[in-house]
Amino acid sequence: MCWALESALSQEGYQVTTATRGLQGIDLAKETDPSMVILDLKMPDIDGIEVLKELKKFNPNIPVIMITAHGTIDTAIEAMKIGATDYITKPFKLEEIKVQIKQALHLSDLEDQVNFLRQELGERYGKIVGQSEAMKEVTLLIQQVAKTGTTVLITGESGTGKEVAALEIHKASNRADKPFVAVNCAALPEQLLESELFGHEKGAFTGATSKKKGRFELADKGTILLDESGEMPLSMQVKLLRVLQERCFERVGGTETIHVDVRVIATTNIDLIKAISNGSFREDLYYRLNVMHISMPPLRLRKEDIPLLVNHFLDKFDPSHNKKISSEAMKTLTRYNWPGNIRELQNVIERALIVCQSAEIQPTHFPKELLNSIEETTTSALNLSESGFSLQELEKHLIIKALENNNNNQTKAAKYLGITRPTLLYRLQKYGVKL
Ligand SMILES: Nc1ncnc2c1ncn2[C@@H]1O[C@H](COP(=O)(O)OP(=O)(O)OP(=O)(O)O)[C@@H](O)[C@H]1O
Ligand SMILES: [Mg+2]
Repeated sequence: MCWALESALSQEGYQVTTATRGLQGIDLAKETDPSMVILDLKMPDIDGIEVLKELKKFNPNIPVIMITAHGTIDTAIEAMKIGATDYITKPFKLEEIKVQIKQALHLSDLEDQVNFLRQELGERYGKIVGQSEAMKEVTLLIQQVAKTGTTVLITGESGTGKEVAALEIHKASNRADKPFVAVNCAALPEQLLESELFGHEKGAFTGATSKKKGRFELADKGTILLDESGEMPLSMQVKLLRVLQERCFERVGGTETIHVDVRVIATTNIDLIKAISNGSFREDLYYRLNVMHISMPPLRLRKEDIPLLVNHFLDKFDPSHNKKISSEAMKTLTRYNWPGNIRELQNVIERALIVCQSAEIQPTHFPKELLNSIEETTTSALNLSESGFSLQELEKHLIIKALENNNNNQTKAAKYLGITRPTLLYRLQKYGVKL
């Protein structure tokens, strides 16, 4: 049997090694780490079940096809329970086992890909970093919302972590082991978006050569993320409204009504209230999406998270910690206003690590625009453009700026300026600054 399979499969282009005893087979598998194993149940020393258990201990994902004789079907089923991929009964045709081998390898290939994508998804989004009050509130809200299963609307400026938050909700929900499917509603033209969301039947339009499941079907029992949903065309908004109300829809070109159990999370960085008033977003859809609302705070309103995030990204992009960041550089980063929020910060760190040739990151390793922008804010704060300014004027400007930068929180502003809160209040009064 070994000889016959080896010569037949070698001809197919497979690399084959064989063993005629169980223990020998285990050793061989450990040594060569094969892509799959064909295993007889009956062998001279230990039986195939024992070998299977041993192989699975060593590599839980290894595909194994069991060879059984008539009357040992029960044992074959037992083997499947332990993790064999398939079994074949003697006597069999070579063509038969070739098909099974192909399928087993294909399946294991798919499993590898799924694992890879899962890992990449986790890495792409990462975890939520942030200890500021604003972020603590968001994290708490995410945990609370996750358990409820209701529709969630996540708003926030570009790069504030809306997608990260959506995935976090999914992972903390009881749908965590079911699919998380994201659709970027702004990236596709209307017709494509419809077939992407709801699928289509064969022949529904030119190019629809076969039936295709939509994202809503793929997300069944799991979560769908409608990313940048504020940008959806009005006609799609009507269709989406129906799914949210009735949890059912038809594929494009189809008549069958499909029911799904999907949790919906929508994100947007546009002001939906404004969009409603100018007619580009449906009010009824807004209320359907806005069952629970999470607003991601911009980074400039939680600057105390910057050092934490910087270290997080240094860790991510320089895991062996070859480079450090100078305190001057860190200070520069906390003075910038981050219009692109966390994504921008992440890019700046990644870039600095590449640009920096020495062991310590300095402000010079940051983009010019970033440095210029800090310069500008400082200059305008000092009002240097006006010729002649008094020390008092300068102090007044700095105080106002400090308050602005700290969301009008006096304690924080005082800390920022390095003075006590009473001192700050005294100065505010002195300069007649009203809050
Ligand atoms: N709190 C956080 N901690 C760590 N990394 C974060 C955090 N928030 C966001 N990020 C990272 O910042 C980047 C942007 O996040 P995300 O894609 O979720 O933003 P977004 O709000 O969807 O942006 P856009 O509106 O541009 O689509 C991602 O790489 C993400 O991993
Ligand atoms: Mg996004």
